[in-house]
Amino acid sequence: MIPLFDLTRQYNQLRNDVLRTVDEVLSDGQVILGPKVEKFENALCNYLNIKHTIGVANGSDALVIALQSLGIEKGEKVITTPYTFFATASCIVRNGGTPVFIDVDPDTYNIDLNQVERLLKNEKIRVMIPVHLFGQTVSLEDLLFLKEKFGVKILEDAAQSIGSEGKAQNKVSKSGTFGDIGIFSFFPTKNLGAYGDAGAIVTNDDTLAEKARSLRQHGSKEKYFHETVGYNSRLDALQAAILSIKIKYLDQWIEKRIEIAKLYQSLFEKYALPLKYTKFQDKGYRYHVFHQYVVEFRNNAEREMVKKHLNESKIGTAIYYPLPLHLQKCFKEYGYEEGDLPVSEKLSKTTLALPMFPELTNDEIEQVVNTIREVF
Ligand SMILES: Cc1ncc(COP(=O)(O)O)c(C=O)c1O
Repeated sequence: MIPLFDLTRQYNQLRNDVLRTVDEVLSDGQVILGPKVEKFENALCNYLNIKHTIGVANGSDALVIALQSLGIEKGEKVITTPYTFFATASCIVRNGGTPVFIDVDPDTYNIDLNQVERLLKNEKIRVMIPVHLFGQTVSLEDLLFLKEKFGVKILEDAAQSIGSEGKAQNKVSKSGTFGDIGIFSFFPTKNLGAYGDAGAIVTNDDTLAEKARSLRQHGSKEKYFHETVGYNSRLDALQAAILSIKIKYLDQWIEKRIEIAKLYQSLFEKYALPLKYTKFQDKGYRYHVFHQYVVEFRNNAEREMVKKHLNESKIGTAIYYPLPLHLQKCFKEYGYEEGDLPVSEKLSKTTLALPMFPELTNDEIEQVVNTIREVF
């Protein structure tokens, strides 16, 4: 059996450290905010080279709070992608805004910034939420162009891309740190995953940081005095303590993921399989951290056949995402119809995620590829 993702292999390596830190937290009794949360917030600031980290309960809340910090007015349009996890768009609606879905690029699966440019030429929209999907950084050069030309504010959804990098004006920066504000998820399966829900907001902007910090704690800076209506969305101290251990291994795990992606690629090339995959390029910086390894088939029938055969062979797969967000029932009122965003719609029928986690062995990867070969 080869799972899509396996938390237990990593835990076996970290068990002693994790249990020791959990014992420390429980022994000193500081379980809400306190030193363990601050320690992780500082560690993340150092890792990302950013001024502020605000630890929150999960990535979805991080999006809601980050967007509220940017100040969305009732009905205000916010640009995002339909080919992402639900929370990227639900945060807009939860802030009273209106999502404007722009289709994705057929090669990177990230929001098509040429189409965003065309829209912004005709209409003033203040905020956009690009997603570094599956761990691949959106072009920072193109984001910078939009920012400078149209003054659009950028909330980066870096839930899947911690550690990935991009380059603009010869400067390399980590995803999540380039825009006005960024968010991360530490959902257990993420490249940096907690053992429960956890998330963070990051920014270099002091005012946004202050707003977000207050919003995570019922909109109050001083206990029992509330300036705005906020949330109870603090990063759990136990999860923060565990994340402080795990962040030390993050780069090493990312390197493993890149190696796995390269091995998949070389095997697909060797056997000339009729599928599309991210071709690894050496750009001199880490533009892809392979949170998911997603391949694309020529049509839905082939995707379904391969999925069925892998699952029958006890190999884990997943479909990210089976229904693009513009076609979700809960977003019906925004008037999108099938055919409006053809690339996302096609990808939802033709892509498949294959096993990807740092502890995956070469033999297992070969077995996955050989099992796909049996279909063709
Ligand atoms: C792109 C994206 N945005 C937001 C989220 C939300 O994060 P969480 O599950 O921590 O709420 C996720 C996580 O699943 C995600 O993949």
